[in-house]
Amino acid sequence: MSETRPSQKPTFLSDYEPYPFELDETRLDVTLDPQKTRVRAELALRRLQDAELVLDIGKDVQLDRIAIDDTPLDDDQWQRDGETLRIAATMPERFTLQTETVINPSANTAFEGLYLSGGIFCTQCEAEGFRHITPYPDRPDVMAPFRVTIRSDLPVLMSNGNPVSESDGVAVWHDPWPKPAYLFALVAGDLRAVSETFTTMSGREVDLNVWVRPGDEDRAGYAMESLIRSMEWDERTYGREYDLDVFNIVAVDDFNMGAMENKGLNIFNSKLVLASPETATDSDYERIESVIGHEYFHNWTGNRITCRDWFQLCLKEGLTVFRDQQFTSDLRSAAVKRIEDVLALRARQFREDQGPLAHPVRPNSYIEINNFYTATVYEKGAELIGMLKRLVGDDGYYRALDLYFDRHDGDAATIEDWLKVFEDATGRDLGQFKRWYTDAGTPVLTMTEHWSDTGRLTLRFAQHTPPTPGQSDKPPRVIPIAVGLISPNGDEVVPTTLLEMTEAEQEFSFDGLAARPTVSALRGFSAPVVLKRDQSPGERAFLMANDTDPFARWEAGRQLARETLLAMLRGDEAGADYLGAFGQVLADAEVDPAFCALCLRLPSEEEIAGAVSDSGATPDPEAIHAAREQLARQIAERHADALDRIYRSHEVPGPYSPEAGDAGKRALRLAALGLLNRLDEGERAAQLYQSAGNMTERSAALSLLIAAGKGKPEVEDFYNRFKDVRLALDKWFMLQPLSAPPRDAVGTARELAAHPDFDWKNPNRFRALIGGLSANHAGFHAADGSGYDFLADWLLRMDAVNPQIAARMSSAFESWARYDETRQGHAKAALDRILAAPELSRNLGEMVGRIRNAA
Ligand code: TRP
Ligand code: ZN
Repeated sequence: MSETRPSQKPTFLSDYEPYPFELDETRLDVTLDPQKTRVRAELALRRLQDAELVLDIGKDVQLDRIAIDDTPLDDDQWQRDGETLRIAATMPERFTLQTETVINPSANTAFEGLYLSGGIFCTQCEAEGFRHITPYPDRPDVMAPFRVTIRSDLPVLMSNGNPVSESDGVAVWHDPWPKPAYLFALVAGDLRAVSETFTTMSGREVDLNVWVRPGDEDRAGYAMESLIRSMEWDERTYGREYDLDVFNIVAVDDFNMGAMENKGLNIFNSKLVLASPETATDSDYERIESVIGHEYFHNWTGNRITCRDWFQLCLKEGLTVFRDQQFTSDLRSAAVKRIEDVLALRARQFREDQGPLAHPVRPNSYIEINNFYTATVYEKGAELIGMLKRLVGDDGYYRALDLYFDRHDGDAATIEDWLKVFEDATGRDLGQFKRWYTDAGTPVLTMTEHWSDTGRLTLRFAQHTPPTPGQSDKPPRVIPIAVGLISPNGDEVVPTTLLEMTEAEQEFSFDGLAARPTVSALRGFSAPVVLKRDQSPGERAFLMANDTDPFARWEAGRQLARETLLAMLRGDEAGADYLGAFGQVLADAEVDPAFCALCLRLPSEEEIAGAVSDSGATPDPEAIHAAREQLARQIAERHADALDRIYRSHEVPGPYSPEAGDAGKRALRLAALGLLNRLDEGERAAQLYQSAGNMTERSAALSLLIAAGKGKPEVEDFYNRFKDVRLALDKWFMLQPLSAPPRDAVGTARELAAHPDFDWKNPNRFRALIGGLSANHAGFHAADGSGYDFLADWLLRMDAVNPQIAARMSSAFESWARYDETRQGHAKAALDRILAAPELSRNLGEMVGRIRNAA
């Protein structure tokens, strides 16, 4: 490896050591300037052990002065080496470390630390961004109250906590709650607020503000409503109250992820704040509500109780995702939310768990921590909380959470602390449960049924977790399996019952049954496992029509669809059972349109490829695309009248509302249109595009037209309408490569990459185009390797500018090894080309290195 390469040395959980100093207060004085921002820092420190003072410092930070208690250090008293600053001077037990640094926000294209986004100064410090602002013990277990002075002539100057004073271009903020550096934030710019006040459960008044650029105020209302709903929900559900006088949210256009929970000053990607019916879809609105909730909920799960080290990331993220999922289920439809979450889990986390990037929810080592903000830590982390809740019951769960908040408020905690509160609150031994945190991989659960005429049904389960990188042996885990039994006439004879599997193989019996029932298994997706069972298409169709558990009902249909597609790929006819059962779903459309819309969605090509690969065969992306198209066409032909009726009768009248009822009707109508599109070749979609009263309809119509190989005038119209609305134009950049017929996808992406509006350094724009192509399964996996080459080119280009974004987008390569030899050859060449780049970042280097090792 060449000398210019950043360190690829891993950090290990087992190497954790407490910081030998206590930090009593952090005082910052920041003079803002686009090129030369001056940061004066005073750290009030206390020595706990006889140790050298070691701080983190970014290579981009110019250190002008370093002093202890006003006495500058001699050159031989300190040493800067890579990202480390060592201070060898002898110091008293209590002392103040004073530093003065200069940083250049306008040159910060990585958007980590202090940077500029459209003229707004803002920060992103998680996970290790604070070291790019000032030398500091940049680790989550070093916590301190902050006092921050901001000097600038910009109109709005903000930091964490409460405002202390503001005059003549100097603003002072004080955050009394001790916090780690990753929660620091500073914002300055010409911003406008949408404001409200909120009275907390104990009667304190809190000023709420959503800050946006002038002109965007009319798109910030939904974010504000979502914030108020979040605050009410956390009081009602967890008894958690907000703890400062103000809560500020700021929207910025350049942001590496969705949003950040900085104490009292959340910073958001503008796409998760700004919404109007013309520019945002129903799913955008739902996302905004859930991410506003997520960041707000972090105030307790993440900020008041933070993580001891980054290995414990799931402690705050898994729990906070679980809380935001509960929030959305309470406000909208619980059944629909659960299915959406499982779809996302399988698409991203199962795929991760089954490939070269598999890692435990709590990893043992990492090279670049930013690469571990993964579906496994977040989404599987949330599933573990759901399993705990199922195992100890709702009462036990809330008792454990009360104890957690009580015992650990103000702490930097660990997964051990977390499990201990559950053990102490419920008396349950969670030793075996802990394996869910430490062992990677998705367990495969096999179920067989044994019926005896005495009226006894026995269910036999076997669990097995395949090996993952670095972990070959996986002992059995406790698996909560929710089952219900349905009698032949469709009645539920045994309501949902939780079976607790703890052995590698285990059986459970039900007695006194009058007739052999149909088993509805893994209800509500009670554990993140792959369930394998031999079941006839007829039985699946029966559950699809009769299951009383909405998740299991949807799942039966999904499995039937998957098996039908696999059979078609083997050259069989489309299954009559599936086509028939579909009619039943359509007949029930009125009961819950959003649920029905989910049932009408066919498995994605990516999901089918995974299923083919699981069955031991090699997926052929073109054949998969063709089979899925053919099935959609057959469904449309067989149910044309019912689909057309649904399409015509589900127009939502009146002014647009993003609320779940209307959104569900639109989703159903658009799902029906998606199938009909295969028959009318875009005719209805073209009409809808013209008459669309909102972005949900307009963007759906546009993708259907593109998929049908039509839509030239509409693509142009969309551009002209939205060329000045960045977030809407992102959709234009995404939908074209995403929905294009596979053979056109790479060409479309290449053309768009040359478009003057392809402002690729903006993460949203880059993700739109590059992510759009990567998600076009047969397009990205083009047999000639052109998709892989295109992605490799752009990852290399982005890596020099913003390594976090390059590394995240590289996961499109993660399943390369499951395709045929020709494709594998192209993928390897693309990956090797990345690995050979002379100045590869640690971020992209780690990702591509792990991915390349797949075979
Ligand atoms: N903690 C944030 C969340 O989940 C996400 C986050 C982590 C992040 N690292 C980031 C956001 C870097 C932006 C940039 O809510
Ligand atoms: Zn989070």
